[in-house]
Amino acid sequence: MQRLAPALRQDNVPLDLISLIKTILAATKEISFRVSQGHLSDLMGSTLDENIQGEVQKELDVVANELLKDILLESGFVKAISSEEEDTSVAGEKDGKYLVSFDPLDGSSNIEINSLIGTIFSIHEAPSDMDASDPDMFKQAGNKQICAGYVLYGPSTMLVMTTGSGTHFYVLDRTHGGFLLVERNVQVPTDTQEFAVNMSNQRFWQAPMQNYISDLLAGDTGPRGKNFNMRWIAAMVGDIHRVLTRGGLFTYPQDSKNPKQPHKLRLMYEANPMSFLIEQAGGLAMTSEGRIMDMQPNSIHQRVEVIMGSKNEVEACLAYYK
Ligand code: AHG
Ligand code: MN
Ligand code: MN
Repeated sequence: MQRLAPALRQDNVPLDLISLIKTILAATKEISFRVSQGHLSDLMGSTLDENIQGEVQKELDVVANELLKDILLESGFVKAISSEEEDTSVAGEKDGKYLVSFDPLDGSSNIEINSLIGTIFSIHEAPSDMDASDPDMFKQAGNKQICAGYVLYGPSTMLVMTTGSGTHFYVLDRTHGGFLLVERNVQVPTDTQEFAVNMSNQRFWQAPMQNYISDLLAGDTGPRGKNFNMRWIAAMVGDIHRVLTRGGLFTYPQDSKNPKQPHKLRLMYEANPMSFLIEQAGGLAMTSEGRIMDMQPNSIHQRVEVIMGSKNEVEACLAYYK
């Protein structure tokens, strides 16, 4: 098994990007340790605060955010960061080459039940002609990402990452504190008989999604002629990890539950990085209108519809919208 840095050099990743990735991973190792301590870390509860999106912050959301923010802003590599838990972008080094967007703790509702959570990150190059405090620097499409990944705090802590030459799996080896490459060029199977969606929102979906999911549920007696299995972890990191490992379709479709918020997942630090990982593994990552990574972002916390995973199944779903 190969260590992280030599594996990245093999993909011709520039040294300062490798250093930035190692900086992010230093924070995730600390988050991983605190997560593994569970109740012993005294971080299992909620704070009294809400983030800018009106969600109550868990103590672990805040700690994970501070750990990542501090280490990145001190690193010298980063011109600015943006995070789910920050109202707007935060300036770093004025000549920093990179921008990092992150979801410090994805799947927060799983914290108290000792279930899957993770950290998601996305890296863009920083425009050299803009001020470090200008949040507009982040309005770059997902197709301009130079690196994306997540760290999954499961029974083992795993890093799943791409720098544009395939999606690779690494495992944190606690005996020496490094991430080891365990699977290079992961491939999402083209076909699947498994889907992931929060079924409790079914009545709020648009007609095409209602029809598509009904046809999956009809199984081998319905128009698809085969049975489908369903899974929902309530943490995108967990669901996407399963899709990368054995295939599947993951969706958080548009819904009318809260008319002011038709979409749930965030473009910059959830949908875009996961799209980069899925596409680099041969899958598709779409909205019902087009490729997620081609969307021109209009704000840091923008939300977006997500339909991603096994290529043929994503295409089968999108056919209902035509
Ligand atoms: P976060 O914990 O960062 O706010 O993200 C949670 C997201 C995503 O990870 C997950 O797929 C989805 O919300 C779960 O939504 P439901 O609560 O509707 O199941
Ligand atoms: Mn999230
Ligand atoms: Mn989060």
